[in-house]
Amino acid sequence: MKVTSIRGFNDILPDEGRVWRHIEDEARRIFDVYGFSEIRLPVLEKTELFSRTIGETTDIVEKQMYTFTDRHGDSVTLRPEGTAPAVRAYIEHRLYTAPVTRLFYTGPMFRYERPQKGRYRQFYQIGAEILGEESPMVDAEALHMLAALFRNLDIRGVEIEVNSLGCPVCRPSYREALTGFLEDKRDRLCANCRRRIDKNPLRALDCKARGCIEATQDAPSVLDYLCAGCKGHFEGLKAGLDRMGVEYRVNPRMVRGLDYYTRTTFEVTAYTGGALGAQNAIAAGGRYDDLVRELGGPETPCFGFAIGMERLAMLVDRSAVPERPLVFFIPMGGEAGRMSIGMISDLRQRGLRVVADHRGASLKSSMKRADRMRAGFVIILGEDEMKEGAVTVKQMETGAQERLPYDVVADWIRERIPGRPQ
Ligand code: HAM
Repeated sequence: MKVTSIRGFNDILPDEGRVWRHIEDEARRIFDVYGFSEIRLPVLEKTELFSRTIGETTDIVEKQMYTFTDRHGDSVTLRPEGTAPAVRAYIEHRLYTAPVTRLFYTGPMFRYERPQKGRYRQFYQIGAEILGEESPMVDAEALHMLAALFRNLDIRGVEIEVNSLGCPVCRPSYREALTGFLEDKRDRLCANCRRRIDKNPLRALDCKARGCIEATQDAPSVLDYLCAGCKGHFEGLKAGLDRMGVEYRVNPRMVRGLDYYTRTTFEVTAYTGGALGAQNAIAAGGRYDDLVRELGGPETPCFGFAIGMERLAMLVDRSAVPERPLVFFIPMGGEAGRMSIGMISDLRQRGLRVVADHRGASLKSSMKRADRMRAGFVIILGEDEMKEGAVTVKQMETGAQERLPYDVVADWIRERIPGRPQ
């Protein structure tokens, strides 16, 4: 019986894996120069970590978590995101003894959403968190770093939208104003939003139902309700972005699907030419100044974001991703086969990517296989070559072919590999 994968859980095949590695390499390189260090977090956490941080009335906690009881009877959850686990680890290992901690992580997240293009039940994020900094310059710098990553990956039509959701001082008055506004429009809202008027009114601004979009068009703006501290912080963010040359748009309707945010929130979308459908947010994040304290740690202002790997990978131009060419080694006959073993391991030691054809097939059949394996180079060791201490090497793309003393062949190949030094 054939067993297939679970809907919404994908295999990342080698061609796609190559693109992912390119993205991760670039992200690691850039995050490193901005002072981030990697943290590896578990995929399974206690359920309460997420319900207490993401928010009981969010879609994620209400209906998207993979929660189950383990053999000991404890409720555990496959992480739907990485911020809460990062904060848990920060407190558990007392990383707050350092003045500032900059962490990044990569790995799978799990949400029981309706699968479609760009939306999966297991998806991967690259996330970054800065713990212990209050200045809006930090927010601006993180966005500058994201913009640099997208630029280096040649992602087109990137748009950064920013907003401020205020703080526990000013948000209640906005919430009250919005609740009053929504009450007046109750009849025009979808059932979900009607239910949420009291519990989580901000979510109504993010509802995709047409009636809700129309009904909330003139909703009060959160930016009109910010307290002096939050207003100053938001002005500082915009000034920082201007100074750093990061382009952005203010979107006061932007709310997030997680409840822990305070002050700055943002989303990055990219022009996808329809490739991603409605799922065009490739990264998102913001400030969560109260989360560390709420989880039992010291007062620690924080900012972070996460990039959706699948969505970003879809936008990367495949032809710009460096591919290390395969060298296909063809020994002709038993003696050549024995001799080739040392040569092949020597070529690998010198950093080439080598696969040999040990079938003892005809040259024609071996060349056909080299072609089908998309080999960049072929090395042939036949009787004549053995007599001369040489090999024949061929560059597949150009057809250039030479018989060369064995010890110069690696250099001959390397000179013909474009791009980075190998
Ligand atoms: P989020 O907006 O829930 O934020 O997710 C961030 C990104 O992950 C999204 O913009 C999207 O690219 C990707 N993503 C989310 N759900 C899916 C899915 N079902 N399939 C494919 N991609 C998806 C967070 O997770 C926060 N932890 C970000 C953050 C870090 N805030 C502060 N620090």
